[in-house]
Amino acid sequence: MNQPAHETPRLGAPAHVKHDGLLAWVAEIAALTEPAAIHWCDGSDAEYEALIEQLIAAGTLQRLNPFKRPNSFLARSDPGDVARVEDRTFICSATRDAAGPTNHWMAPDEMRAILQTGENALFKGCMRGRTMYVVPFSMGPLGSHIAHVGVELTDSPYVAVSMRVMTRMGAKVYEVLGRDGGFVPCVHSVGAPLAPGHDDVPWPCNPTKYIVHYPETREIWSYGSGYGGNALLGKKCFALRIASTMGREQGWLAEHMLVLGVTSPQGRKYHVAAAFPSACGKTNFSMLVPPAGFDGWKVTTIGDDIAWIKPHGDGRLYAINPEAGYFGVAPGTNFHTNPNCMRSIERDVIFTNVALTDDGDVWWEGMTDEPPAHLIDWQGRDWTPEIAAANPVGGKPRPAAHPNSRFTVAATNNPVLDPEWDNPEGVPIDAFIFGGRRSTTVPLVTEARDWTEGVYMAATMGSETTAAAAGAQGVVRRDPFAMLPFAGYNMAYYFQHWLDLGAKLQGSGAKLPRIFCVNWFRKGPDGKFVWPGYGENMRVLHWILGRVDGRAEGQEHLFGVSPRFDDLRWDGMTFTREQYERVISIEREAWQHELALHQELFTQLAHGLPRQLEATRQRLQAALSA
Ligand code: OXD
Ligand code: MN
Repeated sequence: MNQPAHETPRLGAPAHVKHDGLLAWVAEIAALTEPAAIHWCDGSDAEYEALIEQLIAAGTLQRLNPFKRPNSFLARSDPGDVARVEDRTFICSATRDAAGPTNHWMAPDEMRAILQTGENALFKGCMRGRTMYVVPFSMGPLGSHIAHVGVELTDSPYVAVSMRVMTRMGAKVYEVLGRDGGFVPCVHSVGAPLAPGHDDVPWPCNPTKYIVHYPETREIWSYGSGYGGNALLGKKCFALRIASTMGREQGWLAEHMLVLGVTSPQGRKYHVAAAFPSACGKTNFSMLVPPAGFDGWKVTTIGDDIAWIKPHGDGRLYAINPEAGYFGVAPGTNFHTNPNCMRSIERDVIFTNVALTDDGDVWWEGMTDEPPAHLIDWQGRDWTPEIAAANPVGGKPRPAAHPNSRFTVAATNNPVLDPEWDNPEGVPIDAFIFGGRRSTTVPLVTEARDWTEGVYMAATMGSETTAAAAGAQGVVRRDPFAMLPFAGYNMAYYFQHWLDLGAKLQGSGAKLPRIFCVNWFRKGPDGKFVWPGYGENMRVLHWILGRVDGRAEGQEHLFGVSPRFDDLRWDGMTFTREQYERVISIEREAWQHELALHQELFTQLAHGLPRQLEATRQRLQAALSA
């Protein structure tokens, strides 16, 4: 057979890459960004090790003490590249309305001119002097009908090794793709071309940053950052922003939810998906250790951050964790708050922006009660408690680890990984939990009386901003479904999608998951948390599962159903009725204010807001005023 006259250049692609569309796209991006070389990642151990050595030679990584932290590394980022940049994150849908009022929007053509087509387009020649890595990955078990494939082109080897930990990355993905399988194209550059003869810096990046999504063409373009969700494009960009738009079109859900399994002493297995905003303890909850009094109960992790949830042939909703690793916040993690996480990160970890101990191990605020006498901080400076006290930040001693410092580790390191975590069919969801950080107002746990009331609870969720986030502290920010920074389309339409899916499943006679709202964070007059949290959250989880089975009692109130003191199991814990009252009470005045804030959100989202939600708000308002 004759070869076509203009065959797509293979640019060194291995023989098993048979996808012309992929080859053409790689050639197109290489022509735009002009890398010095192209590396097709195969995901092998040998490749990982070689890239790690290269990163060590470049000064990006340093090897930790192999006796203390085997096969583990520390990266220190540029101090200007330490977190997701929500104000530089764009949803470039065809219309502003499609992105909605809670997203930054720019017209696709305008954005393409800035990034690709304009005279000074940022991606033109942006990979000069660097290698472009072709990173094929599957979000979800390879070949699962719930999974989807992406390919990230990146000029950051740190991103390439991180993607191998965080996703199912490697040559096998090409088998799934075949000759014409669909994939989400993800283009990433640190935005720091290297002129010939110039030395590189350990953490190249650019003060100008763009994290861009084109939902209609399902493309991701990220420029200027090498950090976390800005750069590991499978996570927030694909698995939430792009996937949420795919889910809306195709009738499924992409959610900012952990998924855990609970097994009772009798062997009954439940699955729960729970949404919390960032920095509200999702990883901790997903690895919960049942407390004293819960002998024989077991909690296992399916995912700690993101769930893809699809209706199954049996009418139930099934969830997978699209990720294969954890990119967790280090500060505050210790053997009390999350022993299973501490065991997960004993080896094979890439740490970023934590502190280094004198014996070549890591440390962060909250890891131990007493800090070590000397550390190297996340910026490579000497740190002692005295230096920290003499250089306060926000009135507190200067932290040794950045508040958003992270560990990157494979899920398979988790000692309580659920045996079904990699099941391509997913696991059936019994309950959804939504929670925010609220020092007042929201009770410990409330069950919605129906799907619409549950969607209302999730839609009106709020959370107090913490010191780790930019802006004022303690301000309640509405964070619907914990998806405010992650919804790839108009939040009002997203609410409608949840209502529609519920109605469709109910119409087919399916048993919908129950919906609950929790708040671990109520404070007493002394400003301290009243509820001890962590393992004790099992008591709330136990009540929730009891409701799923129809055996747990509760009391109906204005907003739903909550347990009375005697409806929870207290064996093994001392918690008084007075303390319980503080975490469960509903104060009318606080709720009048709360409902006014719900109204504010609904006014912002008025265009397209489902009528049922405003009707629910009015019903609650009337009941409250009665
Ligand atoms: C995360 C986040 O990193 O939500 O998971 O910010
Ligand atoms: Mn998250």
